[in-house]
Amino acid sequence: MTTSAGRTPDLGVSVTGIPLKNPVIAASGTFGYGVEFEDVVNLSKLGGLVVKGLSREPMIGNPPPRLWETSAGMLNAIGLQNIGAQAFLEQKLPRLRQIKNINVIANIFGYNREDYERTIEILNDGEGIAAFELNVSCPNTAHGGLQFGSDPRSLDEVVSTAKRVAQRPLIVKLSPNVTSIAQMAYVAQEAGADALSLINTFVAMAIDPETRKPRIANVTAGLSGPAIKPIAVRMVYDAAHAVRIPVIGMGGISSAADVIEFMLAGASAVQIGTASYWDPCATEKIVDELQQWCVDHELTKISDIIGGMLLE
Ligand SMILES: Cc1cc2nc3c(=O)[nH]c(=O)nc-3n(C[C@H](O)[C@H](O)[C@H](O)COP(=O)(O)O)c2cc1C
Repeated sequence: MTTSAGRTPDLGVSVTGIPLKNPVIAASGTFGYGVEFEDVVNLSKLGGLVVKGLSREPMIGNPPPRLWETSAGMLNAIGLQNIGAQAFLEQKLPRLRQIKNINVIANIFGYNREDYERTIEILNDGEGIAAFELNVSCPNTAHGGLQFGSDPRSLDEVVSTAKRVAQRPLIVKLSPNVTSIAQMAYVAQEAGADALSLINTFVAMAIDPETRKPRIANVTAGLSGPAIKPIAVRMVYDAAHAVRIPVIGMGGISSAADVIEFMLAGASAVQIGTASYWDPCATEKIVDELQQWCVDHELTKISDIIGGMLLE
C-alpha cells in the first residue's frame, strides 16, 4: 500500500519516548491480558496493548448481571476483577514476552495510596512491561469513597506516590466524571505523569421498566462505546491544550476515521475498547484501515496530523 508518490505511509508515533509502530493500542479491561486474543489478533501488528486492571491482591469482581448493551454503547460493572499483580507476572507476562515487538502496558488500580504503591512495586519486577497506566477512576477508601480521579488533591497524591515508586514511564488515565478535565490533566502532569490517557467510562445506569430493577446488579455502571465518542473527543482536545505531555485518546473508537479524529484533537495515540466486544479483531482491522486511510489521503507520516484540527 503506497501513496501516489510510491511511499508507504509511516504510522509510527512516540509516546513519552516509547516508539509505537502505529497509534493503535488495545484498551484495558476489553482485551484480557492480551494472551487470550492471540488466536484472533496478530498482536505484533498493534502499537501496544493495555492489560486488565491489576491490583495488589486478586479480585473476584461484582455479581452478575455486569454488562448491558445501550444505544450505541455498553454499560459495565465488572468490578475490576483480576488475578492480581504477582499472578500476572508469573502466569501471563512470560507468554506476552515471547511475542516479539509488542508494547505491553500494565494498568494499575487501588483503593488507597498503599495499594497503588505496593502494586507498582510488584510490577517493577515485570521485565517486558513498557509502561504503567494508572487507573484513577476508583473510590479512595481513605477519603470517604470519593474517586481519586474526581478530586484534584487525591489525584495529586496518588500520582506523586506512583511516580516516586514507578520504574517505568507513568501514564495517568483520567476519569471523565469531572467538571474540568483540563484542570485534572494539569494536576496529573504537575504531579509527575509522563503521559495521560483519557477517557475512562462515564458513571451511568439503566432500569428495566418491566421489572423495575436495575439492568446491572451494581445499579450504577460505566458507559463506553460510540455513544461517548463526541464527549471523549472534546475532553481529549481540552486536556491536550492544558498540558505539555503526550495524550492518548479513547472513547468509542471503531474505525480509522475515528482514530484520525482523536489525533486531530491532540492525541498522540489512541486506545480501542468496546469495539473489541462486538468484533474481537477490531484493533487489527483498524490498523489495516488506518494504513489505507493514509494512502487514500496522501498522508505519508501519521504523526504530522497530531493536534492538526483546522479552525477555518
Ligand atoms: C468491560 C470493560 C472493562 C474495563 N476495565 C477497565 C480497567 O480494568 N481499567 C481501566 O483503566 N479501564 C477499564 N475500562 C475502560 C476502557 O479501557 C476505556 O477507557 C473505556 O471503555 C472507553 O473506551 P471505549 O469506548 O473504546 O470502550 C473498561 C471498559 C470496559 C467496557
